[in-house]
Amino acid sequence: MLINEKVIPEKQLAAEVACDYIKDGMIVGLGTGTSAEFAVRKLGKLVREGLSIRGIPTSYRTKKLAEAEGIPLIDFSESMFIDITIDGADEIDENLNMIKGGGAALLKEKIVASVSRKEIIVGSKTKMVDHLGSFPLPVEVITFGWQVVFNQLESLQGNPDLRLNNGQPLVTDQGNYIVDCHFKKISNPKLLENQINMIPGVVENGLFINLCTKMILADEEKLIIKERKTR
Ligand code: A5P
Repeated sequence: MLINEKVIPEKQLAAEVACDYIKDGMIVGLGTGTSAEFAVRKLGKLVREGLSIRGIPTSYRTKKLAEAEGIPLIDFSESMFIDITIDGADEIDENLNMIKGGGAALLKEKIVASVSRKEIIVGSKTKMVDHLGSFPLPVEVITFGWQVVFNQLESLQGNPDLRLNNGQPLVTDQGNYIVDCHFKKISNPKLLENQINMIPGVVENGLFINLCTKMILADEEKLIIKERKTR
């Protein structure tokens, strides 16, 4: 997209539009991923220009970036709610339900989303899907007995894969593993979210249902904005 003769990446444009909703005094959830990072950088610039906010990061990676940007950070000992969170998604459907966790930050992202008055999801239009499930659904599992969980996910037709990093199991910020499930087409996301979370050893999964309140996506020509009235 051309803005003042300069090519701005779509996800950057969407992230920076979302930052317009952030006002003085707010507690802001700071998402994880390439789209959310554009928002963190923009908020850092606004803070240096005088905006007064406090952030709660959704990953160690985002925490480091926010600190480098000079955004004051707090945790839930200082506030049990968040005004607005800006985060990305791997897939988002027409009901604003999502798959998240491609960056392995789904657990903190879901906790943060659950206490956010507004959850703004930003990214490129490529994130929009008719049905969730083409993107592998991440499931965070504790390391003890992960094979048992894996087996249960196979029984749910999840075609699971243990996520690796340099040939070793990827370890999340919380010291857990990620199992990616290939459901291909998820017909009932809420039911599947509950079924997976009932498996002993599952910490959380990447289905985010009724959590996004506003979607701001960008393609080469325009912004696509959609809002949920009730949560
Ligand atoms: C992090 O765990 C994810 O939920 C990200 O928010 C998601 O993967 C989107 O990332 P990008 O903005 O990099 O596509």
